[in-house]
Amino acid sequence: MNFRRITTAILVLVCMAGIAESKEAEPVAPNVDLKTGAISVPENYTKWATLGTWAHAKTEGEPGSKEYHVVYTQPETIEYHQKHGQYPDGAVLVKELLNTETMMMTTGSAVSHATTLKGWFVLVRDTKGRYKNSKLWGDGWGWSLFNAPDSKKTVSTDYQENCLACHLPARDLAGPNVHEDDKWIYTLGYPVLRKK
Ligand code: HEC
Repeated sequence: MNFRRITTAILVLVCMAGIAESKEAEPVAPNVDLKTGAISVPENYTKWATLGTWAHAKTEGEPGSKEYHVVYTQPETIEYHQKHGQYPDGAVLVKELLNTETMMMTTGSAVSHATTLKGWFVLVRDTKGRYKNSKLWGDGWGWSLFNAPDSKKTVSTDYQENCLACHLPARDLAGPNVHEDDKWIYTLGYPVLRKK
């Protein structure tokens, strides 16, 4: 009896240690290599929720959109943001760049729809300052660009040079109560995130 109890206790301890260890060894998000911090496009992101779409108008006075940017995230990220007003550690934002075609349809004279995929911009929220030596991580996020169809190879090399300047205007668009790191994100385009 005693022996059985002791054996059970040892087993429980071993399991707990195992869980603690596997937790420790988890990457910030499934699309991040734990050791190097290399980011890829998450495999299942099209099954996630869409946060919003940016429609880029054609120039030269033509009607319709020339490109769509569709942003996806995990459903948990939406829930967390609605509750706490900020992005959780491990939140992944995937922005798809899509070509378009515009045609006359029964709903209107110039209706645009998405056609082929050009590439992806990916951001991973990092509240802990991981990968300090990587030029793809910093200011609270991991930053990466991919050209379709290669969803594994990051083509950007330095987020400070490749990304930050273009995301500066987001900081002015963000409200004063927004977390400093979240100010880099164009959250105004994602009404679904607003606090409930
Ligand atoms: C030419 C300017 C520009 C550059 C360069 C740029 N971004 Fe953006 N990014 C934007 C704008 C503006 C939006 C929102 C509107 C849109 O997509 O048209 C956006 C949106 C995003 C989004 C969706 C989340 C959000 O902030 O709304 C991701 C993800 C993203 N960018 C990642 C990146 C990464 C990673 C890099 C660098 C590799 C980068 N961007 C470089 C301008 C830029």
